[in-house]
Amino acid sequence: MERFVVTGGSRLTGQVLVPGAKNSVLKLMAASLLAPGTTTLSAVPDILDVGVMADVLTALGATVRRDLAAGSIAIDTPAMPGAAADPALVRRIRASVAILGPLVGRRGEARVALPGGDAIGSRALDMHVNGLRRLGAVVDIEDGALVARSSGRLQGAAIWLDFPSVGATENLLMAGAVAKGTTVIDNAAREPEIADLCEFLTEMGAGIEGIGGSTLVIEGVDELRPVTHETVPDRIVAGTYAIGAVMTRGDVMIRNGRAEHLGIVLEKLTAAGASVETGADGFRVSIQDQPRSIDVVTLPYPGFPTDLLPQIIALEAVSQGISLITENVFDSRFVFCRELLRMGAQLRTDGHHVVVRPASRLVGASVVASDVRAGAGLVLAGLVAEGMTEVHEVHHIDRGYAGFVENMRALGADIRRDQVTAAA
Ligand code: UD1
Repeated sequence: MERFVVTGGSRLTGQVLVPGAKNSVLKLMAASLLAPGTTTLSAVPDILDVGVMADVLTALGATVRRDLAAGSIAIDTPAMPGAAADPALVRRIRASVAILGPLVGRRGEARVALPGGDAIGSRALDMHVNGLRRLGAVVDIEDGALVARSSGRLQGAAIWLDFPSVGATENLLMAGAVAKGTTVIDNAAREPEIADLCEFLTEMGAGIEGIGGSTLVIEGVDELRPVTHETVPDRIVAGTYAIGAVMTRGDVMIRNGRAEHLGIVLEKLTAAGASVETGADGFRVSIQDQPRSIDVVTLPYPGFPTDLLPQIIALEAVSQGISLITENVFDSRFVFCRELLRMGAQLRTDGHHVVVRPASRLVGASVVASDVRAGAGLVLAGLVAEGMTEVHEVHHIDRGYAGFVENMRALGADIRRDQVTAAA
């Protein structure tokens, strides 16, 4: 087991390079199943989840070659990939549910174990299931797995999503790309990673209108061709460093960060007192005084991203004034607050709200990362806490942040990774 040991007190200064987005590359990898032959992706981040998704594809018969130095991955998809994803792998990343759409669309069958044995009607995957049914698939639960089958080609249809779900939009886009006729997805998610997937599918030969909007019109084709594609930069990674810069009263140039994908986030950081300069190669965030508190409400894009919620709560813990934060996308994100309380944060949760009052100081503590973003939030808190913070379960952070320790050290942070010994 590994941990990060952070000693607070440094300002983050300098520059950091943002890699391709985790939440895009995993779906692009799944979409490669749609086209026999070799798909090549670049700007692939060096994160654990890419390795797990590569294993998912390999188990389906693909040959995956990853070049870590070049940041690229080549996926050779067979004419007839397997239909069943390895349940052990699926449990490790929820994004593996993204193989459902491509596999049922392309080979008429897909089998994906349900994370934690969810029932079909549960909120977790109902929009994926209902959408695939609209396209003509028969979807059932068999032996704890979600199984989607189609006797012939899927048939294009109009689909209204109850909520702009990222994963459901992606699955239905990929299925619609090889369905017969036109598929319309209304109330589609608009995240930049969805636009990236749309562009990828368009390059592969699908016809998609409305990219970036909430109504996507997809003209399905018989077969897609493999292409070479560069992954969109990771806005959540960029936003994490930006928030870190503000928390530590630093000055960081976030290279390859797309300010236009972080509109409301940078607006909030500006309201907190930071200055944000956008250039051709990214954006720079700096601040000298203690940040002012801001209120934040998470919403689907272009709203404030839920994946920056822990980081922004950590910022509010050291800002002047009282902040009200509202989480609208996930119901278990506030688990992170328990860990922040151990560091002396003054906060109180109520339902999907958290009120953060200014703490006179945060103090180092032994804390546990419960997920990838909570882990990043705890590291940021450690940067401004007095003394030493140990962040445990850092495999979660490694799922989504490439070279986090190295990048933070290059920015001046006092952080190291080490093994947890029995006595630690
Ligand atoms: C993706 C991202 C995740 C991000 C989230 C919201 C990946 C790998 N993960 O997750 O980092 O936080 O988008 O931006 O890209 N829901 C249903 N029924 C469904 C589908 C979703 O009720 O059929 C609910 C979920 O339980 C959740 C909410 O809708 O409460 C949002 O989920 P969704 O947008 O689908 O997120 P993911 O694709 O799982």
